[in-house]
Amino acid sequence: MDYAAQIAEAKEKFGKLLEEQLKRVEEMKAQGDFLDYAALPTIKIGVCGGDGIGPAITAQAQRILEYLLADEVKSGKVEFKVIDGLTIERRVEENAAIPADVLEELKECHVILKGPTTTPRKGDPWPNVESANVAMRKALDLFANVRPVRIPEQGIDWTFYRENTEGAYAVGSKGVHVTEDLGVDFTVVTSQGCERIIRAAFEYAKANKKTRVTAVTKANIIKTTDGKFLDTFREIAKDYPDITADDWYIDIMTAKLIDEKRRRDFQVLVLPNLYGDIITDEAAEFQGGVGTAGSANIGKRYAMFEAIHGSAPRMVTEGRDKYADPCSVIRAAAMLLGHIGYTEQADKLYKALDICTVTEKKYVITGRDTGVTGAEFADYIMETIANL
Ligand code: IPM
Ligand code: MG
Repeated sequence: MDYAAQIAEAKEKFGKLLEEQLKRVEEMKAQGDFLDYAALPTIKIGVCGGDGIGPAITAQAQRILEYLLADEVKSGKVEFKVIDGLTIERRVEENAAIPADVLEELKECHVILKGPTTTPRKGDPWPNVESANVAMRKALDLFANVRPVRIPEQGIDWTFYRENTEGAYAVGSKGVHVTEDLGVDFTVVTSQGCERIIRAAFEYAKANKKTRVTAVTKANIIKTTDGKFLDTFREIAKDYPDITADDWYIDIMTAKLIDEKRRRDFQVLVLPNLYGDIITDEAAEFQGGVGTAGSANIGKRYAMFEAIHGSAPRMVTEGRDKYADPCSVIRAAAMLLGHIGYTEQADKLYKALDICTVTEKKYVITGRDTGVTGAEFADYIMETIANL
């Protein structure tokens, strides 16, 4: 059979894709340094509730932020802006991963606290719009997905630096069905993309007195893209002679995370997008599941902090959203505070979260009226902070 026409069509699509990616490279080259929040007259915090239980839990996190930043709000140094409309209904109506007006509002902020958003899957009543998470990471160039996992009693203190804009996700929805029988997806790497995430991981390690940074790839097989990631890692590691730099392949790394003898040795891990996606779920599971983890998405101009559980639409239809657990988005709020320079307030919030969810647990959230509401739990956290 002669496939010349199909191959020509696929080549054209591939050409377009390369043009887009090279444009991204130029944009990265032109990018300035990280925003200096201390130098801003006003830090604008966008609060974007998202879908399902999102608005209910995010409102509780906002109350806590407003409590901790009361002086800054009064002086005008910090301003909150609630952004509605990042809902699946609006996204479907506009046929956009992020409606244009919402994106504009997001871009007026410096940092964003985001609730869960619904990603339609097969069988859902929604058309297949792109994930709002992935779209936001791309639109705001949030290249570092930072996911800490801590279990002090087991000596586990991991911080994952997941590359957030490239790899298998860069053109994830632009693969090509060349013929009925042949499909091709693409994974993308750039020098600029590798450098900025790897340097961010080493800088974090240096600033936080960590002694080891580990790269995770599959460079023995995925030689071009993972190979570049690993080469860049080895090159950048030379700038940090006091930090041990080692590398592992993703398959054995998933095993080592459950190896009781070895796992507490890992400190900072830096890895391409898809491996980071997978392994951070595994890691969060040791700590009590993805619902207990916060996640930071950091770029040079914007940063977004999110809960990493779903939007639980059934809780809303059953009238139980007020009983939804706000702890993951509150943890994300603590990361936000640290990121914009309010480390003291962030530490207080981390401490209060530990007391309220691990050591004291005076109130529990069950997701229904057998437990307290999210608002009551937020009150408990604020009282705990006041008594620290
Ligand atoms: C995550 C999630 C997202 C991802 C989904 C919801 C698109 O799994 O934040 O890890 O794949 O990145
Ligand atoms: Mg994931």
